Amino acid sequence: WERCGELFGALERFEMTVGNLKGMIQGRLSLGVVTTAKYFAPRLLGGFCERYPGIEASLELANRDQLLERLRESRDDLYIISQPPGDLEVEAVPFLKNPLVPLARFDHPLASRERVPLEEFVQYPFLAREPGSGTRRVVQHLLAKKGLSLQPRLALGSNEAIKQTVAAGMGVSVLSEHTLTSGAEDVCQLQVEGFPIELQWNLVYPKGRQLSVAGQAFQDYLLAEGPKLAPGPMRSEASA
Ligand code: PGA
Repeated sequence: WERCGELFGALERFEMTVGNLKGMIQGRLSLGVVTTAKYFAPRLLGGFCERYPGIEASLELANRDQLLERLRESRDDLYIISQPPGDLEVEAVPFLKNPLVPLARFDHPLASRERVPLEEFVQYPFLAREPGSGTRRVVQHLLAKKGLSLQPRLALGSNEAIKQTVAAGMGVSVLSEHTLTSGAEDVCQLQVEGFPIELQWNLVYPKGRQLSVAGQAFQDYLLAEGPKLAPGPMRSEASA
């Protein structure tokens, strides 16, 4: 069966190569994307599909832990993730910044303060992503380095839900700046020591895997177009 799979794989690559030579790349592309990348990945994929109409693409969204499970099982061609796994041999190609920023409602007591100590920030009710989320993991690491720990008031499985709960004044949080492109009018960025946490978005796939023609075309497209997807500046009461 393994040989058979290899043969079909080779055949598919051959067909795609022929398509490419004809100026028409064809094939399938399965892209696994971490939840937070949904703020730019569909746009990116949309542009890619427009340029390569012969490629049938699919997008799978999941939090970091679930996505790493898919990666372990080789269920997709490529992955977009900001913290590559430490226990798997992967290629990780960085293409875009992913700053994580502390947030509160605009009238929060910390909103107009500069250089808020981390110890003070964590005393406010914290709205966290669910266990398994990459965002939650990074925040936990930052706090652990300072001997602090996260005591979430609420754990929510979606960045959008967190944003709305912050806007309702129920607590502070830390999210990727990419989540703030819309619907964040009442939310402002806090100036807390240790932030922003500067992460990068990476295109990830198993080390040594030969990319399909469609996969290679996506990587090239991503490296050219990805850096244009940087999040814009947002409201900050302290510097207003
Ligand atoms: P998450 O991951 O969407 O699971 O929080 C984000 C990340 O990997 O930075």
